[in-house]
Amino acid sequence: MRFLLYILVISILNTSLYIEALASDSPLNASNEPVSAQLNQDQGDIHLGVASCAGSNCHGAARPYLNSTVEQNEYSIWSREDKHSKAYTVLLGSRSKRIAKNLGLSKSAEKSKICLDCHADNIPESLRGKRFDISDGVGCESCHGGGERYLGPHVSGEVTHAQNVSLGMYPTENPEKRAKLCVDCHVGDEKKFANHKIMGAGHPRISFELDTFTEVYKHYHVDADYKARKGVVSHALVWATGQIKASERFLELYVNKNHQSNGLMPELAYFDCQACHHSTDEQSNATNDTRPSNEGKSSSSKLVWESRQLSGNVGPGVVRFNDSGLVMSAIIADLISKEKGDAFRQQIISMHEASQKDENNMRLHLNNLIKELKVLEGNINESMFKASDLKRLLSMIINRGSFNDYYSYASAEQAVMAIEAVNATLQTLGSNVITTNDINLLRSTTISLDTYKPELFKDALVSLNAKL
Ligand code: HEC
Ligand code: HEC
Ligand code: HEC
Ligand code: HEC
Repeated sequence: MRFLLYILVISILNTSLYIEALASDSPLNASNEPVSAQLNQDQGDIHLGVASCAGSNCHGAARPYLNSTVEQNEYSIWSREDKHSKAYTVLLGSRSKRIAKNLGLSKSAEKSKICLDCHADNIPESLRGKRFDISDGVGCESCHGGGERYLGPHVSGEVTHAQNVSLGMYPTENPEKRAKLCVDCHVGDEKKFANHKIMGAGHPRISFELDTFTEVYKHYHVDADYKARKGVVSHALVWATGQIKASERFLELYVNKNHQSNGLMPELAYFDCQACHHSTDEQSNATNDTRPSNEGKSSSSKLVWESRQLSGNVGPGVVRFNDSGLVMSAIIADLISKEKGDAFRQQIISMHEASQKDENNMRLHLNNLIKELKVLEGNINESMFKASDLKRLLSMIINRGSFNDYYSYASAEQAVMAIEAVNATLQTLGSNVITTNDINLLRSTTISLDTYKPELFKDALVSLNAKL
């Protein structure tokens, strides 16, 4: 059910951007290998191509196998349902043609590195095996690692998962490693990024939440045998890990000046889209419009600004840094202790205030936040997500609405995905306080940035709170 709903919601999501720590292995990682040895596409193993995985006796079965550890229909799910299998194909379509034209690319989208790096398994020629086909888009080995060394052994069925990993298989089951893998494309990394120019040219806005996004096209089952082989991680911990990693990455990209623009303005993709792009579909209901209410529909004719605790004293008319991941990270800190949550929020406020001083001040504060995120990452674990903690977490997410944390669309969208992920864990523990209808109501208020109304979202949160 959650699966289908997500397809619906995600397909209407347009969105924001983030980033992660580049090299440091956090205490949660069991492995001592340097991270560089575990990057999916950079291990030096040849990628054999989706065709090498898709045999009907391998991962290409039409239906799940009964007596197999894995379902063996992974290829069928990926090729039929998973948008990653179409990621290259969309580069051939009219929207991509338009983006390429608007950007003035010298080659068409499907030949341009800037697009292929995210829309395909764009490894160097030397690592492409005989059956490798770039048009497979984001194929199995984009996530699971090049199969050169593990393909043979893993087919024998006699090796453990740890042995596969030592032969180049990427540990996608580990939430941190998974987060790192996904955010490389879904937030960006030092080489690739969906900047404001690409979006201005016609690219959709990008947003990411690890648990929600993992669930959408899920091609595996967490059954007893999976648990025995890989252990089980709750949706809530996956969510928390993803939030922290994605925020870290987003901040680091900014701090490391990876994708700054050279012009008069900073790179706008780091900022809250809504600071500039307001809803223009309806008149403001504010009583004191600066212009007669029937004149024009541009956002500059509205008086809808509201103060927001987390934005500190920056006041109206200011372009705010996109803090949607930080808003969620502060709530994760709350779960450890109220003091930690409040201290984290104070750092967010200081960062926004610094953004109104100068660039060095801003970087200093973002660096402080990165440090806090790393500490937080080391402090989260499964024991924080017991049933009583989850209910507390839900009410904390909901209550932040009253401080206007979700004034920006990007943070409202994150709040909905957070509620969903936390609730999914609660459901596995047998609690059904929040129903599908409740979630749908929340979603209906966050369908798109263009129609988002913070006050309606706040109302929806208040009704949800009444159920807890
Ligand atoms: C940093 C990674 C990244 C880069 C660079 C990038 N994209 Fe994307 N693109 C994405 C992601 C992620 C999505 C899905 C966004 C979502 O809906 O969450 C997407 C979605 C799209 C879509 C909409 C697809 C659909 O199913 O409707 C088009 C079209 C597209 N990209 C074209 C391009 C083109 C053309 C380029 C090169 C100029 C490009 N992209 C560069 C990551 C990227
Ligand atoms: C976008 C990334 C991504 C792509 C593309 C992808 N996978 Fe996966 N795959 C995952 C994640 C995440 C998991 C769940 C975590 C885990 O068990 O490792 C998973 C799980 C699996 C499992 C289940 C393992 C088990 O232990 O039960 C198999 C098998 C698998 N994938 C095969 C494939 C095949 C074959 C393809 C290509 C047709 C593919 N995957 C494409 C990310 C991906
Ligand atoms: C190599 C880059 C790359 C990696 C790695 C990657 N993705 Fe994607 N992902 C994309 C692109 C590009 C799209 C857009 C495809 C399209 O719309 O055709 C996409 C689309 C998606 C969508 C659909 C979004 C929508 O709006 O419908 C989900 C969900 C998703 N990815 C989840 C994940 C998860 C979870 C991981 C990590 C396990 C992951 N992705 C790893 C590039 C990547
Ligand atoms: C500082 C203000 C500012 C921020 C923040 C900002 N934009 Fe823009 N955006 C602009 C301006 C200015 C244009 C150019 C409008 C024009 O060419 O007339 C533009 C153009 C666009 C366009 C092209 C549509 C058009 O009307 O030209 C898209 C799409 C877009 N922005 C998306 C986004 C997204 C998504 C975000 C958040 C990640 C964002 N913008 C953040 C100011 C901003």
